[in-house]
Amino acid sequence: MIEWDDKYSVGISKIDDEHKQFINIINNAIATNEHNDDPEELKKLLHSITMYAINHFSTEETYMIEFNYPEYQYHKEEHHDFTKKAIEYCERVTHGDSQFADEILEYLKQWLVNHIQVTDRKYIDCFKRNGLK
Ligand SMILES: [Fe+2]
Repeated sequence: MIEWDDKYSVGISKIDDEHKQFINIINNAIATNEHNDDPEELKKLLHSITMYAINHFSTEETYMIEFNYPEYQYHKEEHHDFTKKAIEYCERVTHGDSQFADEILEYLKQWLVNHIQVTDRKYIDCFKRNGLK
């Protein structure tokens, strides 16, 4: 489980709120997976993580384009890698490969925490300079 901590904050309320929701969805998926072996359930959870990710990445990327953020390309690629991986996992689970559920959720969790703490921090100055708070 991931617990929200100030070290995850980028200091921009809309983005922090979305990151908190993202963490909640992943935590729910981890909790459900621990108490439930149903591959259908896991499939649904992975699907909602993927949908949430696409939505949230679009929030960040829209600001990046609007503010001419210089590291947009690189950042977008990291988002793209995550989405690709999440979709790939959805497909694996759909094809009955659910014994890797723990591993999958651990990967998604680690990715998110690392991304928030490293890559997302780099846009803080740019976003704040452009009036976000
Ligand atoms: Fe990001």
